[in-house]
Amino acid sequence: MLDFTKAEELLKKNGQEHVLRFFDSLEEEEQRNLLRQIDNLDFEMLEAIHRKGSSTRGEISPLGAVEIPEIEERKEEFVEEGLNAIREGKVGAILLAGGMGTRLGFEQPKGTFDIGKTRHLYIFECLINNLLEVCDVAGCYIPLYIMTSEKNHEATYEFFEEHNYFGYPAEDVHFFMQDMAPAVDYNGKLLLEEKGRLATSPNGNGGWFISLHKSGLLDDIHARGVEWLNIFAVDNVLQKIADPAFIGATILSGKESGSKVVRKASPQERVGVMCQEDGKPSIVEYYEMTDEMVTQRDADGELLYRFGVILNYLFRVDCLEEIMLNHMNVHVVEKKIPYVNEEGEKVKPEEPNGYKFETLILDMIHMLKSNLVYEVVREKEFAPIKNLHGVDSVDSARELLETNGVEL
Ligand code: UTP
Repeated sequence: MLDFTKAEELLKKNGQEHVLRFFDSLEEEEQRNLLRQIDNLDFEMLEAIHRKGSSTRGEISPLGAVEIPEIEERKEEFVEEGLNAIREGKVGAILLAGGMGTRLGFEQPKGTFDIGKTRHLYIFECLINNLLEVCDVAGCYIPLYIMTSEKNHEATYEFFEEHNYFGYPAEDVHFFMQDMAPAVDYNGKLLLEEKGRLATSPNGNGGWFISLHKSGLLDDIHARGVEWLNIFAVDNVLQKIADPAFIGATILSGKESGSKVVRKASPQERVGVMCQEDGKPSIVEYYEMTDEMVTQRDADGELLYRFGVILNYLFRVDCLEEIMLNHMNVHVVEKKIPYVNEEGEKVKPEEPNGYKFETLILDMIHMLKSNLVYEVVREKEFAPIKNLHGVDSVDSARELLETNGVEL
């Protein structure tokens, strides 16, 4: 690990020596922890703020999907192929639960939120129930890997233990932690959240495979003979996990990955859309779309960019290993970041005051050679919980769960 002199040298080289401002007043352990944080810093990532706003995207054009009528027609074939893969132990599931869920305003990990009305029904429980439905049909369990961050790892793990994994076998559930990324002010200066601690936040959901690898769990995946990983978000309580039809369709297509998509509810809906970028499948985030892309329609009056992603992807493990060390696009996001000011006082800003850095899983689609875009019925598979009320909220998800026969 770095000693003080080396850390100071490194920080000076990068114009960040102010983070040692309170060093002399820290306890020994705090000093060690700060030096460890500095040692782990990725200064190159911070450079991304200079590229903020400048698009590095290639030539974008629309991309079609395998649509619902075709899927219905070939359902049996797809399901049989998918179930075979599951029964042969070739499929694993990855739950992305490392996010901070700030929009929900709930202090605990998002998955521990109770969406029940007359009974307890936690988000994690809902997801496990969805996975168990497939296990019942397949007659076997599917290994589940849960990504957390240092901010919510303990609480998440303890919650599963306390609730006996909601009936899932504990030996088929593994946890791993993602990395953290530093936060900076608008001038690119690192912020301290304590006198002896850099302000950090989880580094986005794009680093999940590297984190899985670093945790040693990739060995478990190899040992079990898992060839496909279904990645899904914590917040969509209606989603199908390890959906045999989706798995079967992707395998039969011969593609390296698959993405579940829904038809956008309105041109302005805040979801990333599927497209082609320089002739390869890709995803454009809603905030990166030009007005023209948002509203353009084809001859049938349908939106040209009509398929929104719902953060449910299938990836071939060997293909992920090939791209694992490739550079990922760093997204710079404005945020309210609590910090310690020059006088050593804690400040909790009301307005955004800086940037955090993250890589996104959706960028992986373009890094792979091919992707099956697979349409699902949104009313049956898409109920994201981002906010407490309004769009994509606890309220809207409850309504959708009830429509789908889930008792609350
Ligand atoms: P969101 O984009 O909704 O981010 O995550 P978030 O941090 O959870 O929520 P807000 O924006 O603060 O309200 C989509 C999915 O990606 C996971 C989340 O847990 C969720 O399942 N995620 C996000 C991670 O696993 N790690 C991250 O660093 C960010």
